[in-house]
Amino acid sequence: MPSLSDLTKAVIREKKQDGSPLYPDYMPFYDPLEKVEDIGSFEHHDPGHRADPTFPNLLKNATKFYDLSPNVGTEIEGVQLSQLTQSGLDELALLAAQCGALVFRSQDFADIGFSAQKRIVSHFGPLHVHGWAPHPDAGSHEHMIIYDHASDLRVRRSWRGRSPIQWHTDQSPEQQPPGTTFICMLESPAQAGGDTLISSSVAAFKALSPRFRKRLEGLQAVHSNNDGVKQEMKNGEQAVMRRQELEAVHPVVRVHPVTGEKALYVNPVYTKRIVGFDQEESDYLLGFLFDHIAKRADFQCRFRYEAGTVLVWDQRVTNHSQTLDYPAGERRHAFRLTPLAEKPIPSMVEEDDGQCEKDEGRVSLGLC
Ligand SMILES: [Fe+2]
Repeated sequence: MPSLSDLTKAVIREKKQDGSPLYPDYMPFYDPLEKVEDIGSFEHHDPGHRADPTFPNLLKNATKFYDLSPNVGTEIEGVQLSQLTQSGLDELALLAAQCGALVFRSQDFADIGFSAQKRIVSHFGPLHVHGWAPHPDAGSHEHMIIYDHASDLRVRRSWRGRSPIQWHTDQSPEQQPPGTTFICMLESPAQAGGDTLISSSVAAFKALSPRFRKRLEGLQAVHSNNDGVKQEMKNGEQAVMRRQELEAVHPVVRVHPVTGEKALYVNPVYTKRIVGFDQEESDYLLGFLFDHIAKRADFQCRFRYEAGTVLVWDQRVTNHSQTLDYPAGERRHAFRLTPLAEKPIPSMVEEDDGQCEKDEGRVSLGLC
């Protein structure tokens, strides 16, 4: 019978014995002179439109495919993302939209180099450059480095005294916010921790009563990153601002361009107010929606990583949060590549859509 320490060793994640990072080329670099220009408006043709809905290219070598929860998150084994054809990538866009988030383990993605990584991910849209987060030491402005370690405690400090659980969708203050996005894990804390929480915004919308859904459709909300900018500046001399504050107005309920699914598109990090509502009304409604997203664990799931895990998710139909739950000083190191997508498509109010009568769960509970 194995001892507890033998069993524990089996789950310890890869580390270098001398304590140096597994991927030094991806160490964070803050360039104080760099400026980032707005990408401007562009036409987005989502690759999911071209996908074969039976996924023959994406899943050709798949050995396992299983949902991590009923509403969001699927794990796929046997697929090497770096080997996918253009058709396989089209299918990846569609499947990520349908499942919300996909996790692929034991990938060689971290080892194929910046150019190949960007070539693959730019299949989904032009790559975003972050306004203040670091790039890799060895170059590539589109790579956003996620780094937490005793030698660089910026992330820890920025969350000091606050819950690190902050549901959001990345960069929603962009005029054309992100779609199919990649996180590649380079090094995880030695044991448990550093997971990502994901919540389905489609399920979040569907869980509301049909009458309330109608009230939300047609509303618009202001998204701004000014709090993030202020927080970054507060962190002192290390702040590197490359871009001005961003603000955009988006529909509260958006429609996915490929699946046609409606998704609740507000988040407590960036969404500031409902257009046309007085402040107290707006705070009241957004407060309810933020609670709804945060509390409803029934449409969330949690992704654990090791070095080589790649998470591919669709930001248009999900919110996510870090956990920052492992001991301070441990190294967590990853990069994100973030393709921008279409200007959010507003959901139109369907005056008599008969949705309540079609929902057996509501009918059986007398909720129509
Ligand atoms: Fe994020």
